[in-house]
Amino acid sequence: MKILVTGGAGFIGGNFIHYMMKYHEDYEFLCVDFLTYAGNMETLEPVINNSKFKFIKADIADRKSIYEIFREEKPDIVVNFAAESHVDRSIEEPEIFLKTNVMGTQVLLDACKKFGIQRFHQVSTDEVYGDLPLDRSDLYFTEETPLHTSSPYSASKASADLLVQAYYRTFKLPVTISRCSNNYGPYHFPEKLIPLMIANALKGKSLPVYGRGENIRDWLYVEDHCRAIDVIIHEGTNGEVYNIGGHNERTNLEVVKTIIRELDASEDLITFVADRAGHDLRYAIDPTKIHNELGWLPTTTFDDGIKKTIQWYLENKQWLENIISGEDQQYYEKMYSNK
Ligand code: NAD
Ligand code: DAU
Repeated sequence: MKILVTGGAGFIGGNFIHYMMKYHEDYEFLCVDFLTYAGNMETLEPVINNSKFKFIKADIADRKSIYEIFREEKPDIVVNFAAESHVDRSIEEPEIFLKTNVMGTQVLLDACKKFGIQRFHQVSTDEVYGDLPLDRSDLYFTEETPLHTSSPYSASKASADLLVQAYYRTFKLPVTISRCSNNYGPYHFPEKLIPLMIANALKGKSLPVYGRGENIRDWLYVEDHCRAIDVIIHEGTNGEVYNIGGHNERTNLEVVKTIIRELDASEDLITFVADRAGHDLRYAIDPTKIHNELGWLPTTTFDDGIKKTIQWYLENKQWLENIISGEDQQYYEKMYSNK
C-alpha cells in the first residue's frame, strides 16, 4: 500500500505521517509538499531516513508535476492536507487560497481520475458550516448542516468539498471527506492561537486576544484527528462526509488563561486587540456519525492534551526558534541540495 500525503510538512500532515508510519510499518509513504512558509522539513526529520518514506517538493496546483508524480509513483490512497490554512491570511490575501485550496484540489482529483486510485481523502474543516451562536449550547454541526462560510479560507475549503463530491457523483471517483474542528498539538505553526500564545508567553511577550476572547472553539488533540483519518481511509464509505470532534469546547480566553497557568506566566500579558473581520462565534462538532459507523472516539481530553502540547514546545524550543527566525528555509537547502 502506498499513501500519498500532500501537505505533510505542515502541522496535521506531519503528525499524520508520524502516526501512520508508527501503526502501518509495511506501508510506503510519499509526501508531496510545496514548502510554503507553513511547510517545515524539520517536522519530517524523525522519518526522513526511513526507507518507506519519500519526499517530493511540488505544488499541488501544478498539473504537470502532479501528473508526473502519479505516473511515476502510482499511489493507492491520496490524503490531501495541502492547503493555505490560516483565516487571518485569507482576509489579507484571498487569491492564493483559491489557487491552492480549490485549483490544487481539482488537479489532484484529475490526477486520481486519470491514473486511478483506491481512495482520495479530502481533509476539510468544520469552518465550512459557518458558526453557531454563543447562547445556544444545544446546537452542533452535523454532516447535514448546510455549508455557510464566513472567510475566504472557509469559502475555498467548501468549494473544494463541492468539487470532491462532484467527482464522486459524475466520475464515480472513490472519495471521502472529513470535517474536523480546531486541532492542537506538536509541530503547530506559531501563527495559530495555541502555539502563538505558548511562544509569546515563553518570551514574556503580550498575548493578543481578538475582541473580548468570548469566541468558542472545539479543540481536538491532533493525534485523535490522525487516528480518525486512518479509520476513514480504511473503513469509510465512498462519497461520505465524516465530522471529527470531541466536545472540548473552550472560549479563547479560557485557552489563553490555561496556557498562562501551565507556564506560570502573568495574566498581565493578555492584550485585547481588534477583532477578526467576520469572526466566527462558535464551532462545535457532533461526532455521532463517525462514532456509530466507524467506532471512532477521541482519547485525549483538552486538559491532558494542552499539558502534552506545552511540554512538547518546552522540549522543542529549537523547532520553534527556527521557524520564527526563518532558518527553516536554509535547513531545507542544506538537507536537500544533494538529493
Ligand atoms: P498547515 O498550514 O500547518 O500546513 C499546510 C501544508 O501544506 C504546509 O506544509 C504547506 O507547505 C503545504 N502547502 C501549502 N500550499 C501547497 C501547495 N500549493 N502544494 C503543496 N503543498 C502546499 O496546515 P494544517 O493546520 O496542518 O492543516 C492541514 C489541513 O487540515 C488543511 O487542509 C486544513 O484546511 C485542514 N484543517 C486544519 C485544522 C486545524 O485546526 N489546523 C482543522 C481542520 C482542518
Ligand atoms: O476549525 C478548524 C479551523 O481551525 C481550521 O480549518 C483552520 O485551518 C485553523 O487555522 C483553525 O481556524 P481558527 O481561525 O479557529 O484558528 P486560529 O488559531 O487562527 O484562531 C483560534 C481562535 O483564536 C479564533 O477565534 C481567533 C482567536 N485568535 C487567534 C489568533 C491567531 C486570537 O484571539 N488571537 C490570535 O492571535
